[in-house]
Amino acid sequence: MNQRNPAIAVATLAAGKGTRMRSQLPKVLHKLGALTLVERTLDTAQHLSPDRCFAIVGYARERVRETLADREIEFVEQTEQLGTGHAVQQLLPYLEGFQGDLLVLNADVPLLRESTLQTLVRAHRTKQAAATLLTAQVTDPSGYGRVICGVDAAVKEIVEDRDCTPAQLSHKRINGGIYCFHWPDLAKVLPQLSSNNSQQEYYLTDAIAMLPSAYAVDVPDAQELQGINDRLQLAQAYTALQQRIKEDWMRAGVTFVDPNSTTVADTVQLEPDCIIEPQTHLRGSTIVRTGCQIGPNCLIENSSIGANSRVLYSAIADSQIGEGVTIGPFAHLRDNVVVGDRCRIGNFVEVKQTAIGPDSNAAHLSYLGDASLGRQVNIGAGTITANFDGKEKHPTIIGDRSKTGSNSVLVAPIEIGADVTIAAGSTLTESVPDDCLAIARSRQTVKQDWRPRSKET
Ligand code: UD1
Ligand code: CA
Repeated sequence: MNQRNPAIAVATLAAGKGTRMRSQLPKVLHKLGALTLVERTLDTAQHLSPDRCFAIVGYARERVRETLADREIEFVEQTEQLGTGHAVQQLLPYLEGFQGDLLVLNADVPLLRESTLQTLVRAHRTKQAAATLLTAQVTDPSGYGRVICGVDAAVKEIVEDRDCTPAQLSHKRINGGIYCFHWPDLAKVLPQLSSNNSQQEYYLTDAIAMLPSAYAVDVPDAQELQGINDRLQLAQAYTALQQRIKEDWMRAGVTFVDPNSTTVADTVQLEPDCIIEPQTHLRGSTIVRTGCQIGPNCLIENSSIGANSRVLYSAIADSQIGEGVTIGPFAHLRDNVVVGDRCRIGNFVEVKQTAIGPDSNAAHLSYLGDASLGRQVNIGAGTITANFDGKEKHPTIIGDRSKTGSNSVLVAPIEIGADVTIAAGSTLTESVPDDCLAIARSRQTVKQDWRPRSKET
């Protein structure tokens, strides 16, 4: 018979200043990619669907609270940061009478996988331990607490790096700072912690030796336990995270021509048979559909790129691109641009908040802002929508199959009908009906038998 699993509470330790970051910003608010360290930790914990979720905040707590404002978590204040044990002591009034397990996560260990957290909880429940913690065997254990085990991965004690004897320093099993406790056992020993150590802090790790049973679970990929204490480790973690993301996409059928020069946020979605060329950066909620070739040198944020499209040397933000579209080189699309299928948005074209119907082209040197273009429209080289009168923005509408001549200026608000041709060099200030040619420029004058004065004899 299946026994009901005990209730689970999660506490994220996020009260420390992070002195080694040398920053005004609390360490847990430094970003790893798009998310702060504490957000990453909470996201990982969320996969366990905990019954209660706490963030222990202290240093710059208002800023930390602001960052986490729209999450369903309980904030617990640690007004003085007297160590990780002291941080967990703050939970005592909140978890009075709680009979379940407490998962404690250091908010500065962002590469932890949710599957590893699940393994930890499973191991803890199987052994019915008082504590179970994630450990790793590493070649360079410096900076981490050393976990000293007896037989069967039973933990005897954890010695902090600074408190190690010379012999303990060479011990290779490190503490990851991720623990599962049977709360009633931990609650009993928490008040007994002392600060008798090199940092004069109350160490959570000292609780381990006081508990009836504690076990270490070695994580095969030690990188998951990489702690972030300084900016060097932050950059190393970013590289590791990127490598993980790109490897996953490569296994799923995406080609990265030069993975090291490319970054992909973990919020991006890619379909198989995309080719991502060097120096390309994909961020936010970007989706790239199958058959696309993106790059070299593109920055795409919060945008979707339809199947079989080609983008090179361009920046695209908050926009939607159809299928079989060609963009670039050197195009800039931003603020809700919608591009229909098979369009070409070309060299040196800026497009802002504009909808472009299918099979339309704006191939050279243009600005299209607050505009709406029908299908099969051709925007001639150098066409500008003059959308701003110094105070407000105004719309431009261009009907199906219309063509603007080179160097046309469309002074908005203005509506150009369908099947219109606009003569090159026109400055249009009034709307144009369907099926016509619009010319708005001075006539050419040719003066016969004219010579510059200097050449007169
Ligand atoms: C801690 C562990 C160490 C482990 C390492 C793993 C202790 C005593 N040591 O060391 O064994 O190898 O993590 O990365 O636990 N925090 C608070 N309140 C405090 C102090 C810290 O909330 O009073 C928070 C910090 O914001 C941070 C986390 O606890 O998120 C860990 O603190 P940190 O000072 O980085 O501990 P380490 O020295 O890395
Ligand atoms: Ca740390």
